[in-house]
Amino acid sequence: MKILVIGGGGREHALVWKIAQSPLVEKIYCAPGNPGIGQLAENVAIRVDDLQGLLAFAQKEQVGLTVVGPELPLSLGIVDLFEEHGLKVFGARKNAAFIEASKAFAKDLMKKYDVPTAAYEVFTEVDPALAFIDRIAIPVVIKADGLAAGKGVVIAETREEAVATVIAMLSGKTFGNAGARIVIEEFLRGEEASFLAFTDGKNIVPLASAQDHKAVFDGDKGPNTGGMGAYSPAPVVTPAIHERVMQEVMRRTVDGMAAEGRPYHGVLYAGLMIDGDQIKTLEFNARFGDPECQPLLMRMKSDIVPILLAVADGDISKTKIEWHDKAAVCVVMAAEGYPAEYRKGDLIAGLEQAAQMDELFVFHAGTMLREEKCVTNGGRVLGVTALGATVKEAIERAYAGISLINWPGVHYRRDIGRKALGRDTIA
Ligand code: AMP
Ligand code: GLY
Repeated sequence: MKILVIGGGGREHALVWKIAQSPLVEKIYCAPGNPGIGQLAENVAIRVDDLQGLLAFAQKEQVGLTVVGPELPLSLGIVDLFEEHGLKVFGARKNAAFIEASKAFAKDLMKKYDVPTAAYEVFTEVDPALAFIDRIAIPVVIKADGLAAGKGVVIAETREEAVATVIAMLSGKTFGNAGARIVIEEFLRGEEASFLAFTDGKNIVPLASAQDHKAVFDGDKGPNTGGMGAYSPAPVVTPAIHERVMQEVMRRTVDGMAAEGRPYHGVLYAGLMIDGDQIKTLEFNARFGDPECQPLLMRMKSDIVPILLAVADGDISKTKIEWHDKAAVCVVMAAEGYPAEYRKGDLIAGLEQAAQMDELFVFHAGTMLREEKCVTNGGRVLGVTALGATVKEAIERAYAGISLINWPGVHYRRDIGRKALGRDTIA
């Protein structure tokens, strides 16, 4: 079978890497892909938002399954378009991907179906939003309603910062149209986890647990990014928490979406805040997390292709996923300046040396080729991902890989996975 993967980041490199191991696959295309992906698949120069171009390509090449990585094409309706033309596609339809595309919709859904989440209000006008800011405890969390690449959330530590953020978002200055509506919500303490599950709209098959690191600096300091590293399993998700998340978050959400006439097919990602035995849902994403996908797929033992096909066919009642009994850690290497404006075009040294290491894989995110050499071309450049018998071992291997790779201005967190230590369950 021919498979088309849509996207060109670290998540899509991990998907292509995993799909390439399937005996069911004869050829993989990736649009637009990146140089790392190009070693496993044929990169096709079509943008992720060129839905008609992608459709024409899939038809011409008789692609048997299309796998959609990022949220943008999902929110534009790529799955609906491919299905209308009888093509098999893995991903959420437009009306289901709305759970990520509108935070206000997601919050209202959670309230209606009793999914635990932070107290909140939605605003489109400055005055009532400021009146609410006056009444609510500080710190307070202010979120742009629409898609903002993981950066549309501000945790205001003072009332002045909260007022300035509300005004900047609602006036359209910071996030354009995505900020025309905002959610203001209670600040939650605790430890985050990423909980992903495949669903066909009825059945739910969870993936292994994972934890992201959103802030740019060690100790969760500094502004939020798309994610600076991730590991799996995340011991904060104990078996008891797992069971409750399945019942209180995933089951209620999947049933709620079906009841709303928005049946959810694809992978559903719940961002959670866990504090003792309290679980709250921070957000939903309609796709695999990036970088969570990288460690998750390195740990996945099962062939992923039959799973993706079962989801696309709308029946995962017989799907089971086996996992390697190892931990995986992904550390993101970023370009100088990221998550603000960043440098591009720097030569990346050490990729060949890192490729020699066992149980380690370097997923490309923001790279491009210049005179056949890899140079930086994005904020998040590489995701160095390693397996280990324990999280500790996987951390050590990932950082050993990182020590081989370099370019001017590179930065990365040095504490990825540290929260798991002392809680490590795979020993
Ligand atoms: P979101 O895109 O809604 O997941 O928010 C991005 C990040 O902001 C989350 O991963 C958290 O680190 C942080 N965050 C969001 N909502 C809250 C909240 N209510 N309390 C504390 N931190 C939050
Ligand atoms: N790593 C967080 C996300 O993919 O949204």
